[in-house]
Amino acid sequence: MLTNKRILLIIGGGIAAYKTLEVIRRLREQGVSVTSVMTKAAEQFVTPMSVAALAGETVHQALFDLTSEAEMGHIQLSRSADLILVAPATADLMAKMAHGQANDLASTLLLATDTPVMIAPAMNVRMWEHPATQRNIAQLRGDGIRILGPNSGDMACGEFGPGRMVEPAEILEAISTHFGAGVLSGRHAVVTSGPTHEPIDPVRYIANRSSGAQGNAIAAALRDAGASVTFVTGPASVPPPEGVAVVRVETALDMEAAVKNALPADIGVFAAAVADWRVDGTQDQKIKKDGEKIPSISFVENPDILAEVAKSKVQRPALVVGFAAETQNVIENAAKKRMRKGCDWIVANDVSPGTGIMGGVENSVILVTENGTEEWPRLPKQEVAIRLVERIAQHFSETA
Ligand code: CTP
Repeated sequence: MLTNKRILLIIGGGIAAYKTLEVIRRLREQGVSVTSVMTKAAEQFVTPMSVAALAGETVHQALFDLTSEAEMGHIQLSRSADLILVAPATADLMAKMAHGQANDLASTLLLATDTPVMIAPAMNVRMWEHPATQRNIAQLRGDGIRILGPNSGDMACGEFGPGRMVEPAEILEAISTHFGAGVLSGRHAVVTSGPTHEPIDPVRYIANRSSGAQGNAIAAALRDAGASVTFVTGPASVPPPEGVAVVRVETALDMEAAVKNALPADIGVFAAAVADWRVDGTQDQKIKKDGEKIPSISFVENPDILAEVAKSKVQRPALVVGFAAETQNVIENAAKKRMRKGCDWIVANDVSPGTGIMGGVENSVILVTENGTEEWPRLPKQEVAIRLVERIAQHFSETA
């Protein structure tokens, strides 16, 4: 619970403002008092009436409002909270913050404050990717502002990519963690992610199509729930999340060593697409064509990192979660895999080419536990991660 915490919520003008209403509701449920400020543009997307009704307080709108100023001056307003949350943070609001402009109530409060600030950007993908926005983000990060997301996915404007505001649950997790009240505070999680590269010679390797997106999202969700996370990642195509201890590896053998080194842990989530085999007798020099013989490659089996950790007698995490990438008989194969590998849960997914899951931004999973199977709807990978972490937190609260 976040009882008696005070949050100053600044709502920017974006379609994601409707999600902010849910954030207010959830914060109030946790005992937080929410004072809201809306920009002029925000009023085009949600009404001050709905914000006030949910927050249980009048909404502050204009900089030069004598009544509000008499009740609480804007300087006092900017300092009386424990945390300032900007959601959605538009490109315009972020630009004002990065440059220290103060030409409306929201930007003036943000310039006048000495309170920690968290922002949840939301905008069109091109606006997000524009060098100006990226410069502003880097500036804000450097100024110590915590940036949540944005997530990738379908956008209200019909485009696709990064720019969606993070979900209310992610905002709540981040706020809880900020106040040291994360559901997994004090727990250590090891997460493997990405593909592995198995060298043939110094210039060639064998790889797979994993992007690392699902592992990234899980590490970020565990971090947001307050866990300290060791993130062991193969050469993924997405950069690792902030705020986790990153260990970069290349091969399955490197990954095995890094995971062992990271133990003990309370939670192990094995999302990496580890190569099952490595090349027997990797060449030190580049293999050359000799015009006659086509080289043949033979393989040896890699250690099964998940099975080793799950069956370990000494340093087995209390909860071991594996993944199952299947192309047929998903549930049956995943259930067998859970038994064979000795893990507690398996997150099974169908990675057949038609599903677009491997390397894509969405996932459709079935959670296989000792109690049976649960089919989840097709969701963005971030939401799959949040659900999984909620289940992990529930597991620990039940077994506490
Ligand atoms: N895994 C692992 N080490 C390996 C192979 C797999 O830790 N050498 C883990 C993966 O991270 C995943 C789980 O085991 O959590 C299942 O991976 P998957 O590729 O689905 O299964 P395999 O063991 O490779 O079985 P198969 O290829 O027969 O489906």
